[in-house]
Amino acid sequence: MQEFNAQVSRVKDLTHDVRELELSLLAPDTIDFKAGQWISLNVWHPGLKQYVPRQYSIASPPSQCHKVNLVFNRIPDGLGSNYLFSFHEGDPVTFQGPNGSFYLQEKPGRDLVFVATGTGIAPFRSMLSTFLEQPEAGTLTLYWGLRSQRDIYYQHELEALARRHPNFSFIIILSRPENGWKGPIGRVTTLVENHIASVSNVTFYLCGNGGMIRDTTAIVRKKGLCPIRTEQYYDKARAGTDD
Ligand SMILES: NC(=O)c1ccc[n+]([C@@H]2O[C@H](COP(=O)([O-])OP(=O)(O)OC[C@H]3O[C@@H](n4cnc5c(N)ncnc54)[C@H](OP(=O)(O)O)[C@@H]3O)[C@@H](O)[C@H]2O)c1
Repeated sequence: MQEFNAQVSRVKDLTHDVRELELSLLAPDTIDFKAGQWISLNVWHPGLKQYVPRQYSIASPPSQCHKVNLVFNRIPDGLGSNYLFSFHEGDPVTFQGPNGSFYLQEKPGRDLVFVATGTGIAPFRSMLSTFLEQPEAGTLTLYWGLRSQRDIYYQHELEALARRHPNFSFIIILSRPENGWKGPIGRVTTLVENHIASVSNVTFYLCGNGGMIRDTTAIVRKKGLCPIRTEQYYDKARAGTDD
């Protein structure tokens, strides 16, 4: 991995507890990565009295090579979360990267299904435009599970992408909606169970909650054999109680 010096060029609250940071690269001033890969930041661990790495998927496409965007949620007592929430516009930041094997590996023509919960949308945001700009791209379906209306973000961006690309569609499903929600209700696994008839030409990409990855994998396996690629590194940090 390479070390990058960057500056926080934008801080944007996407919801009550999800924030997006834009990091503009200074030295080196470009980054070469595959859509879906992550970067690593060193965060001070007061208990261990040392810096520990925290990984975040790049949520911007590789075509925007002078910056990276990160999307993350507020986790009380979370080391990485509190560190990222402490940044203001203009602050310097150092990170290492890119790394990770969760990136598009399919030949054009294959259909993709992306399944995300919460901020597991981050790598998909990078992959979506990258995939859809390919000539002869197959269909791409995104299923995204969130809790309630106040947790929704990127909806207009996804709608615009779907208008531009007839081979792209997405469904947001809410597990605990407030009154007035007209969309589907339940967990994202319900969509995988009920909306996918055949998996013969499909590759699944799953990112987010570890339980979702386990349950979706079981549902897909019952439907047939196909590639399933997963990313859930963030849960490990949470399970360690420090993030
Ligand atoms: N920020 C990044 O760069 C990044 C990168 C990679 C991965 N991630 C992942 O993104 C996740 C973000 O957490 P979050 O708090 O935003 O959202 P979350 O914990 O994933 O919760 C959002 C939704 O997941 C549902 N859910 C929980 N267990 C499920 C299961 N077994 N099957 C299907 N759906 C299930 C919840 O339903 P209920 O209301 O019924 O519980 C809720 O609707 C983390 O788990 C992390 O692994 C983030």
